[in-house]
Amino acid sequence: TSIEKGEYPHYMLKEIYEQPHAVQDTLDGRISPQNDEVIFKELEKYREYLSGVNKVFIVACGTSWHAGLVAEYLLERYARLSVEVDYAAEFRYRYPVLDNKTLVLTISQSGETADTIAAIGEAQSLGAKVLSIVNVPSSTIARNSNMVIYTYAGREIGVASTKAFTTQLVVLSLLTVYLGLLRRNLPADQAAVMLQDLKRVPNEISKIFTEVDNIKRIARAFHKHSNALYLGRGVGFPIALEGALKLKEISYIHAEGYSAAEMKHGPIALIDENMPTVVLAFKGRRYEKILGNIMEVKARKGKLIAVASASNDDITRVADEVIRIPDATESISAILAVVPLQILAYYIAVEKGCSVDQPRNLAKSVTVE
Ligand code: G6P
Repeated sequence: TSIEKGEYPHYMLKEIYEQPHAVQDTLDGRISPQNDEVIFKELEKYREYLSGVNKVFIVACGTSWHAGLVAEYLLERYARLSVEVDYAAEFRYRYPVLDNKTLVLTISQSGETADTIAAIGEAQSLGAKVLSIVNVPSSTIARNSNMVIYTYAGREIGVASTKAFTTQLVVLSLLTVYLGLLRRNLPADQAAVMLQDLKRVPNEISKIFTEVDNIKRIARAFHKHSNALYLGRGVGFPIALEGALKLKEISYIHAEGYSAAEMKHGPIALIDENMPTVVLAFKGRRYEKILGNIMEVKARKGKLIAVASASNDDITRVADEVIRIPDATESISAILAVVPLQILAYYIAVEKGCSVDQPRNLAKSVTVE
C-alpha cells in the first residue's frame, strides 16, 4: 500500500476506502478452495496445544480491544470456547487465573503497545502460550509471542484505526472457524458456509461506499450535537463501542456505546431531542429486540440513526435516518456495519474542521505505560 494520500484529503478516508483490498489481502491463501479448511501455517506447531486449551483470554487496548469483544461472541458460539476479554493494562496487574491450558490471544495493530507487551510476559510467566494478531511485521509483540497471525492491512497512518480493525475481525473470524474445526465443535457444512461468507466480505464492503452521500448529509445534520449514544446487541454491541470511540477520537463529540438492552438502566435518562442515538440494527437473533429498544428512544423524542441490513424494511418506520449495509449473517454484518460508522465519524469531524489524522492528545501507538 502506498503511503501517499494521493487524491484523498486525509489518510483516514484513504484507509477507509482501502478496506476491501486490506481484507482481501488478509484472506488470501487462508481459505482452502473447497472451503473446508482454514490455512494457518503459523499455528501448525501448536495444533496440539490449541486442541487442549480450555480457556481463551483476550487482551488488547483501544480499537483492538473492541475486536476482542467481537471475538468473544464468535469463539463462544462457534468454537464453544470459554472466553474472557480484558484491557491489557488491567490484565497485567490483576491476578488472572490462567495456566498451560489457557490460550492468551493478544490483538494489536502496531505491535508496540506497552501494556500489551507487558501482558504477554505476564501470561507466559504463568505458563500460557500467547497467540498474537498483529499488523506490523517484526514488531515487539510479534517477536515476543509464541504464535503470530498477521493482518495485511498495510501501513495505517490515521490515528483513528479503521482498516486494521476490519482486518482483525476477519482474522478472528478465520481463527474461530479454525479452532471450531480443530476442536470438532463446528460442523463442516457450517464452517464451509462461514468461509464462503468471509470470501464475500471485500465485495460487500465496496457496496457500502454507495452510502457515502447519504452519510455526508447525515453528518451535516448532526455535527452540532455535543453528545451521542451508540447502541447495539450481540456482536453489534462492541461495534457500537467502536463507533462511539471513532466519533470521540476525531470529532471530540462525547459519545457512549451501550448494549441496547442495558440502556434502560441508565443512559435512557439522557435521551431527548438533543441526544441523537446511532443504533446497529442489522439482521440477527436480536433484531426484534433492538426494534423494541429503539422504540423507547423514539418515545422520548430522541433522533435515531440506524445502520440496517438492506432488507430490513420495517426500520424506516422507527428511524429518522437509515444507513444501509448489504444483507449478511449476523457475524459478517458486524464487520460491515463498522464501515459506515467510520465514515460518519470522519465526515462529522470534517464538518467541525477537526484535525482528522492527528487528533489532539492521541498517539498512533502508546509505547509507554
Ligand atoms: C492507540 C491508538 C488506537 C489503538 C490503540 C491500541 O490508542 O490511537 O487506534 O486502537 O492504541 O493500539 P494497538 O497498536 O495495540 O492496536
